[in-house]
Amino acid sequence: SSQLKELSESEGGLLDRRMFFDPEIYKVELERVFARSWSFLCHESQLAKAGDFFSTYIGADPVVVTRQRDGSISAVLNSCRHRGMKVCRADWGNAKAFTCTYHGWSYSTDGSLVSVPREEYAYYNEIDKSKLGLLRVPQVQSYKGLVFGCFDPEAPSLVDFLGDMTYYLDILLDRVDGGTEVISGVHKWKMRGNWKLAAEQFSGDNYHTISSHISVLLSEFPPEAADAFVNIDGLEINPAEGHGIGVMYSPTGAPFSAGSSEAILRWRDETRQESINRLGKERVEGMSWTHANVFPNFSYLHDSSVLRVWMPKSPTEMEAWSWCIVDKKAPQEVKNAWRTQAIRHFSPGGTWEQDDGENWSYCSGAGGQEGVVTRLSKLHVEMGVGHERSHPTLPGKVSHTYSEQNQRSLYRRWAEFMAAESWKDISVPVRTTEVIDRSDMAK
Ligand code: FES
Repeated sequence: SSQLKELSESEGGLLDRRMFFDPEIYKVELERVFARSWSFLCHESQLAKAGDFFSTYIGADPVVVTRQRDGSISAVLNSCRHRGMKVCRADWGNAKAFTCTYHGWSYSTDGSLVSVPREEYAYYNEIDKSKLGLLRVPQVQSYKGLVFGCFDPEAPSLVDFLGDMTYYLDILLDRVDGGTEVISGVHKWKMRGNWKLAAEQFSGDNYHTISSHISVLLSEFPPEAADAFVNIDGLEINPAEGHGIGVMYSPTGAPFSAGSSEAILRWRDETRQESINRLGKERVEGMSWTHANVFPNFSYLHDSSVLRVWMPKSPTEMEAWSWCIVDKKAPQEVKNAWRTQAIRHFSPGGTWEQDDGENWSYCSGAGGQEGVVTRLSKLHVEMGVGHERSHPTLPGKVSHTYSEQNQRSLYRRWAEFMAAESWKDISVPVRTTEVIDRSDMAK
């Protein structure tokens, strides 16, 4: 485990390249990072009625999340106890039961095995169905509409795992009365590149914008706004070890997503005072152009209305899953504008997305990382070392626009999980802010 820890000398800011392509490290990562962390599963609005389900993954493990008749949400491993066939082959839908198509074993939506074809004849009535239910995800909890699951029963609660990240998640989830919903449909696409490359960028890489996205900036914004990007002000914030959020202060004052939409601008104006009443001026007026990552692989872009999971598929491949999130009570015209904006910018054909995917591909296999000489040199994440500060009003460690403090934090957290034998060896974030409970939305 000390070797695993050494892969990320993230206090000093050097990374061993093997963590982006080595199959052995990837195997340990699935076990020690993904099987222990809270992973984003879906939004509660996708599970509106009893029997509604959504198929996803925690790391490499397939799970299906379902709304139960009593209103609770549960998740089970999507793998038949007989021969391992997927019992739910649909991406989402509504079901009374999950019946395996191989030999017909049938499970209730909470995972209990309820029927076995020709039970008496085939099994002489000797099969104990009560012991052959689908394996349950032992912890499933929501934070203001976002549903997370965790395979480790020893893990702390979701809000403890998030720590002060909830203070920043509220900017996305708690702006207005009624909370959020996602627009039906999830974009999914494959990319070359290790999942950590995407997670670290969303956690804290304002820096790439002025190079990677310069052509999009020049084509989508007035020249003066595009110029202003180069010297833009902002923050990188590390609310708790592993989690990160970055802010850019809009050069025009307009929300990023409002580039082509009067409807979004009007909605933001109409709801500004309500949002200030709920969250305070600083979070509403200063912090809409944000990118963020919740450890390990759940990202979002507030003003582009995008939720994202970077599904690990192999050491050098990931699948991006992307949702469009909107204020639930917004008029349909505004929701449509957000959807158009999310697809236009951050989808398989999105203008900004194209730039990022190409980088991650070259930072991984396509860039020759595995080459016998290339792999020897360590990668540099030292920007802003020693310049992280506390902030008079914002929780967490804070740096100015360009810093790699959040990347270092993500890799330190990753190394902590990789080296730990159990949750007893993993720190729980110290919370300094209250969780604001809302009766108008799911907890
Ligand atoms: Fe599912 Fe046989 S594999 S019933």
